[in-house]
This record gives sequence, structure tokens and C-alpha cells, in this order.
Amino acid sequence: MSYGIDTVDSVGVVGAGTMGSGIAQVSALAGYDVVMRDIEPELVEDGFDAIEDSLGRFVDRGDLTEKEADAVVERIEGTTALDDLADCDIVVEAAVEDMAVKRELFADLAELTEPGTVLATNTSTLSVTTIASATDRPGEVVRLHFMNPVPVMEGVEVVVGEKTAEGVVDLAHAFAEEVGKTTWEADDKPGFVSNRILMPWINEGIRAFDEGVATKADIDRGMKLGTNVPMGPLELADHIGLDVCLHATETLHEELGDRYKPAYLLKRKVEAGDLGKKTGRGFYEYE
Ligand code: CAA
Repeated sequence: MSYGIDTVDSVGVVGAGTMGSGIAQVSALAGYDVVMRDIEPELVEDGFDAIEDSLGRFVDRGDLTEKEADAVVERIEGTTALDDLADCDIVVEAAVEDMAVKRELFADLAELTEPGTVLATNTSTLSVTTIASATDRPGEVVRLHFMNPVPVMEGVEVVVGEKTAEGVVDLAHAFAEEVGKTTWEADDKPGFVSNRILMPWINEGIRAFDEGVATKADIDRGMKLGTNVPMGPLELADHIGLDVCLHATETLHEELGDRYKPAYLLKRKVEAGDLGKKTGRGFYEYE
């Protein structure tokens, strides 16, 4: 089987949340026809709201015209039916971080799409090989991991599973580049490059706060000014979502041992429902 980027016209996206809607947006902006699927109509609508909000920001700063922004939205079809992804040339899954859910989705996607359709997962920390093993086409499963917020972050991490075919890896890089991103590649090892290194950084920031090393503002300020990153660990945790950080850290802890043990305060905040920006309160408060 050969996998050419020239044969890709349509993109399926599973999940219309923060990541899925962002992936749908950048794909449509690059000129692809997109089918964005979530399980409830309201979730699909929320995805469109996020896309319109983001496109509006590009319009406000003069990077897009209103007409171009409208055309991007028109290229995206929303649906709750997984079957509507049957004719897509590449499908990117950005559903919940739950291995059982992802395995079931990939088994269904492999059945309903034609052989030759690349099936990509945006998983933060789960193994692409384990996800792929739920399908009868593991060679066509790859990890294509966008960063949050997808419309403005340049990087995409491509992860190669045990059985991923070489042509599929090449297509994953080429597709990410077509949607305006720059890629790097990692092996299918826990957390890959990005989250293996980012999550303990965030976790240690939370521990430092909990152990009274400094105020949260000074921890964030110190890391921003001291290492020239756009957000400190506590701000970034709020931006990503504390539930996402906890899940990722727990997966790393399970796979890699005690150095990844989730901070006590991270667990306590998730239990309290303070998940960061999305709930209006995490380490900081948001309107
Ligand atoms: N769509 C369009 N534009 C957006 C946007 C979006 N979703 N989000 C931010 N922007 C724009 C803003 O409108 C703003 O534009 P103007 O300069 O014209 O006003 C510009 O980006 C800068 O935004 P802000 O002024 O609000 O704040 P900022 O300068 O701090 O930038 C940020 C925001 C881009 C998020 C920046 O803080 C940043 O890069 N933070 C780090 C993000 C990061 O590390 N992401 C990775 C998370 S980990 C992950 O994704 C992996 C995982 O599996 C968990």
C-alpha cells in the first residue's frame, strides 16, 4: 500500500473538544473537507463555538478575512454518527483518554473505513501499539499529537507504534506539515518526548507550591522569567486541565514508577472539581 499526501482530501476528527475542534479547524483552514464527530449534538455545537471563537481572533488581528473564516467553518461538517467518517482519507481521534474507549473506537474505525485510510490518535500518554492492536490494520495506526491550543501551537509529535508502516509515518508527518505544523518523532514509550518531560515539570511545580517553596505566582514567574517559557507550571496546568494532567501523570507513574507519583495537591484539586480554566478555577480563578 502506498500512502501519498496528494490522495488526502478529507479528514475525519473524532471528538469535538478542545483538541478535536482545534484539529478540525487547522485541517479546514488548510483546505481539507472535515467531518467532526462527537457523541452528543451539544458537544458538536461546543466544538463549532470554539472554532468560531478562535477564527474570530485570527480575524481580529488581520490574519484572516471574515469571508475566509466563514469558508473554514463551511468546510466542517458536524455529526454524531461515526459512520459519517467512512469516506475520510485520514481520521484523527481526539476522544477521552480512556484506553477501553479508544480501543473500541479504533476497532470500529478500522471496520468502517477503507484499507489505506490512516487512523491517527491524539492520545497524550497512552500506547499507540495497544490502541492499534484492537484493529485488524495496526500498520495504519499512528499517533499524531497536536499541542493545546492547536490553532496557535506549532509542534506536532508523531509516534510510531510497533507495527506502524513506514509510509503511514511519512504521511503523518506530511499531513501535519500540510496543516501548518512542524513535527518531531518519538518511539511508543510512556509519555513519548513531550508529556514524559512536561508532566513531571508541572507535577514538581505543584509539589513546590504545596510544600511552601514559594507562592504560586512566584513559582510561575520564576519559571517564566528564569527559563523563558510562556507559562509557568501552575498556569500551564490550569490551561491544560488538571484532570488531563492527573491522568497523564498517573499513566506515567504506572509505567515508569515513583518518580512520576502525582502530587497530593493535584489529586485533591481534581477530586474537588477544580480542573483549571475550563471550570473557572484551578490554581487560579478565571471569569
Ligand atoms: N486561537 C486563536 N488565537 C489564539 C488562541 C486560539 N485558540 N489562543 C490564544 N490565541 C492568541 C490570542 O488571541 C493572542 O492574540 P493577540 O496577540 O493578537 O492578542 C495570542 O494568541 C497570545 O495569547 P494571549 O495574549 O492570550 O496569551 P499568551 O501570549 O500567553 O499566549 C498561549 C497564549 C499561546 C497559550 C501561550 O501562553 C503558550 O504558548 N502557552 C504554553 C502552551 C503549551 O505549553 N501548550 C502545550 C500544552 S501540553 C499539551 O497540549 C499536550 C498534552 O497532551 C496535555
